[in-house]
Amino acid sequence: MNTADFVVVANRLPVDRVGEDEWRPSPGGLVAALEPVMQRSDGAWVGWPGQPDLELAPFDADGIHLVPISLSESEVEHYYEGMSNDTFWPLYHDVIAEPRYRRMWWDTYVKVNERFARAAADVAAEGATVWVQDYQLQLVPRMLRELRPDLTIGYFHHIPFPAYGLYSQLPWRRQVLEGLLGADVIGFQRVADAGNFARAVRRQLKYPTKASGIAVPTADGGTRSAIARAFPISIDAEMYEELAQRPDIQARAAEIRESLGNPKTILFGVDRLDYTKGIRHRMKAFGELLEDGRIDVADVTLVQVASPSRERVDAYQHLRDEIELTVGRINGDHDTVGHTAIRYLHQAFPREEMVALYLAADVMLVTALRDGMNLVAKEYVASRVDNRGVLVLSEFAGASDELTTAVKINPHDIDGMKDAIVQAIEMSGVEQGRRMRALRRKVRENDVTAWSTSFLEALTQARAESQR
Ligand code: F6P
Repeated sequence: MNTADFVVVANRLPVDRVGEDEWRPSPGGLVAALEPVMQRSDGAWVGWPGQPDLELAPFDADGIHLVPISLSESEVEHYYEGMSNDTFWPLYHDVIAEPRYRRMWWDTYVKVNERFARAAADVAAEGATVWVQDYQLQLVPRMLRELRPDLTIGYFHHIPFPAYGLYSQLPWRRQVLEGLLGADVIGFQRVADAGNFARAVRRQLKYPTKASGIAVPTADGGTRSAIARAFPISIDAEMYEELAQRPDIQARAAEIRESLGNPKTILFGVDRLDYTKGIRHRMKAFGELLEDGRIDVADVTLVQVASPSRERVDAYQHLRDEIELTVGRINGDHDTVGHTAIRYLHQAFPREEMVALYLAADVMLVTALRDGMNLVAKEYVASRVDNRGVLVLSEFAGASDELTTAVKINPHDIDGMKDAIVQAIEMSGVEQGRRMRALRRKVRENDVTAWSTSFLEALTQARAESQR
């Protein structure tokens, strides 16, 4: 108890349970980025082990002290599936799906956030730094500050923060803003997200803001400053480059092309099966291109990996039905015995297979209707060590701010997306190389270590200034 100098608080633990007492590190980039900091500074990670009713004592894995938070079946339903993924998720992604506002979900969300905050307060050493992650835990910063005013508290929001006109629908809009303002630094993916947050604070709480600083009133009648600004997250670019250079992975990429009948062009999409990703829009554009005769099934195949996600939430079940109906129709209309239009895989794959698929893909389609960042776009770029391939990228993905030489699209404009796909298919090798080299430079320069370092530096500085 009270021994960790650096504490991460996230909805999930950075490990997956693979047996009774057996854990495997989960593949997320966040873990990789924070591992060195964790090991240097006696780190602890507070999170949910991913299954209901699992009461586990804290344990150590790979030099990290893990503090499991137990959630009952009904807490998973109300806090995780309900409030997090059927209220905040659709609201923060521009109400692409209708958010549901249920008071019972909110009550459980408050209760579960308190549990996370208490666990963090118990494990953090005097004066420690605590970094809270994402929308499932927006109330934790303030709760933690009340329990432990000695701590330096950061919060990073991995998903978009919506425009005020949408945010103001939230019945608990003030409580959430106050919860987040418990942090010394509140990080967002895009400059626009930080701007939306500051505007909500001004409109709802009337706190003054100046540049990225927000003056938050304190109990003694004074104010403290909280910083809200963009820190675009990234990936471990070097690791993707290394995988892409492995002969076995390159051989696997060739094998993938072969098994698809060696089409001239492979289009590739990979997403969690989520309505924010624009998978239906992408398929509509692709289906129409076949219909119009602008592409031929003998030449072009779309490989779509849609990994299972949040399968007990209604909106996700409906989406799966819609997508599978669409795939069936397009394939039924256009497949030949030897060629398929869409190779659809409702599965998750290990990273090695993903890199082989990236190498096999001539065109990567990222058509999100709204996305905090979209790391797939960055993974594709990092994997293209041959400086070939074309990234078609939605302007509604956070990655669009940095990846400026991608082929940009508005996924709502189906005709525009069709033209962009044809442009990508027909792009010369020279033009591909010019664009890809610029993309690769960006991803290499701003990798996940640069991201975590800049956030933690801002946190140290913010705390030093507030103590002055
Ligand atoms: O970034 C969005 C996010 O919800 C993360 O918090 C989470 O790690 C990831 O997507 C996967 O979602 P889930 O934990 O609901 O499976």
